Amino acid sequence: MCGIVAYIGSEKAGPILFDTLKRLEYRGYDSAGVAVKSQESKDSLEVLKSAGRIADLEKVYLKLGSPGETVGIGHTRWATHGNPTDRNAHPHVSGDVAIVHNGIIENYLELRESLEEMGVQFQSETDSEVLAHLVRMYYQGDLAGAVTKALGQVEGSYAVAILCPRSPYLVCARRDSPLVLGMGKDAVYAASDVPAILSYTRDIVRMKDGEMALLYKDKIELRDASGASKPLELEKIEWGVDAAEKGGYPHFMLKEIHEQPRALQETFAGRILEIEGDVRLDLGMTDFEIRSLNRVSIVACGTSYHAGLFAKYLFSRAAGLPVDVEVASEFQHIQLRPGTLLISITQSGETADTLLALKKSKVCGVKTIAITNVVGSTVTGLADGTIFTRAGPEIGVAATKTFTAQMAALLLLAVRLGKARNYLTPDQARKMLMEFTRLPGLVQSVLEKREEIKAIAEKYAYAECYFFIGRDFLYPIALEGALKLKEIAYIPSEGYAGGELKHGPLALITGKTPVVALATCGKKVQSNIKEVRARGADVIAFASEDDSDIVKVASTVVELPKTRPALSAVLCAVAVQLLAYYTANKLNLPIDKPRNLAKCVTVE
Ligand code: AGP
Repeated sequence: MCGIVAYIGSEKAGPILFDTLKRLEYRGYDSAGVAVKSQESKDSLEVLKSAGRIADLEKVYLKLGSPGETVGIGHTRWATHGNPTDRNAHPHVSGDVAIVHNGIIENYLELRESLEEMGVQFQSETDSEVLAHLVRMYYQGDLAGAVTKALGQVEGSYAVAILCPRSPYLVCARRDSPLVLGMGKDAVYAASDVPAILSYTRDIVRMKDGEMALLYKDKIELRDASGASKPLELEKIEWGVDAAEKGGYPHFMLKEIHEQPRALQETFAGRILEIEGDVRLDLGMTDFEIRSLNRVSIVACGTSYHAGLFAKYLFSRAAGLPVDVEVASEFQHIQLRPGTLLISITQSGETADTLLALKKSKVCGVKTIAITNVVGSTVTGLADGTIFTRAGPEIGVAATKTFTAQMAALLLLAVRLGKARNYLTPDQARKMLMEFTRLPGLVQSVLEKREEIKAIAEKYAYAECYFFIGRDFLYPIALEGALKLKEIAYIPSEGYAGGELKHGPLALITGKTPVVALATCGKKVQSNIKEVRARGADVIAFASEDDSDIVKVASTVVELPKTRPALSAVLCAVAVQLLAYYTANKLNLPIDKPRNLAKCVTVE
């Protein structure tokens, strides 16, 4: 899990590499490095790398007088093989060949042993270093040829950029790891993600698996897996650089929480057919195939897994379909039977466990759908159909707008499935869809409660432990609330189905454990509130407006707009995000980059 960048053009490479790397820090930030073609002596490299933040390395680079020429590569790392140390930081160098790599080389031990037998000395503990030595070994004036031979020996995933000052071009290649190229004026860029290079160019090429690109300062030569040249498919990026930056908010997370009305609107846009009472989605399935389904199996990780649990309640009610939801890393594909629809939910589209589960399911021959926020991400190439969530880039490590956009996509999918299976009448579907269109406005009303929620967050910010309870559609949100608080506020938090408390966790409830009760649907949670109040806990209830019963039992009540239960789950999701955000903010924690975590987990 790393970010890579590359530049070749007519300006000094170093400053551009640092600038673009900083925009990729969300992909990993335990060490960083750059390699640039040296100004001093032709055909040699200047390499600068260390454990720690990019900004610190940049200071060293500036102190050294900004060395280097107009071509270079850079890397920001999240350790997988070997600790985050200077030595393990990329670029890895062999002679005058430097490489940056994102992914995992599965057979690196084998390759390392054979290279060591040939006398190669390794400098790091990483899997990536083998690539540098292989490329150097094969290089005889044709860098692309050497990289092809080296990658031919590699098992696993990679996005790589390779620099050798003797070569007139840089080489980039990808397999199962994202990589985009950018065409500028007298300059060509490469990066793991679009926002990194957006302030330089809007003309993007998304590399596909197996492709290799030769980057010259005025052109890109693209080759397919067989080595044949391919025409460039340039895509014009319409969203602004601002969309990838903080836009006045102190943290990306807060900005992204506030972008939710827009993200929901975009996710619904053009898909709701109000007159027909139906939904337009690219599922890669006919109505006949949808009618033949007898089960849905969902795989996902973390927050996306909670979206999957939400779908469990939704699909059974709107489409009469039983749903199994599994954490992707524990997925047992042998249980897949004909007639199952496999849905993988992943905002990044690159989560290794989710991709692997999807690949396993494909072996069983079932139909597959991906729900993702990233156009061109790996998951989209694997699934039969994709629903894009259109939340825009999410930079904060904590998933917020991508989560509620996933819920919105699942709401749409529920209606589509229900409609195709004749489980919903056109009238029922139409009514539901009309209510969906009001959801962005309702979320806006929850955002307007921010000061109220902030005061509660600050009051309990020093709690040693938090509990979240919810029932039915709100159970997944209780899990999500607890995950958010753990993730960014580092407070041990538990999410429970309200009914489960008395089966064990109640033993932990004391006057020091605030309990967040999600109480916007159903009355049963009131007895759970009474249970914990009787043990001395303060209860913060998120309830529907004018629910006088809740006011009698909870210590504090935040009123949310009244709506149907499935939609109130989205409102509660926004409320618990705000609670976690303001708690972490009170504790002065690095909200957008919580310790030990990375935005996109591309290792199993
Ligand atoms: C959410 O706040 C987390 N950062 C994490 O649980 C995340 O949802 C998980 O890693 C899955 O990511 P994905 O949606 O990109 O697959």
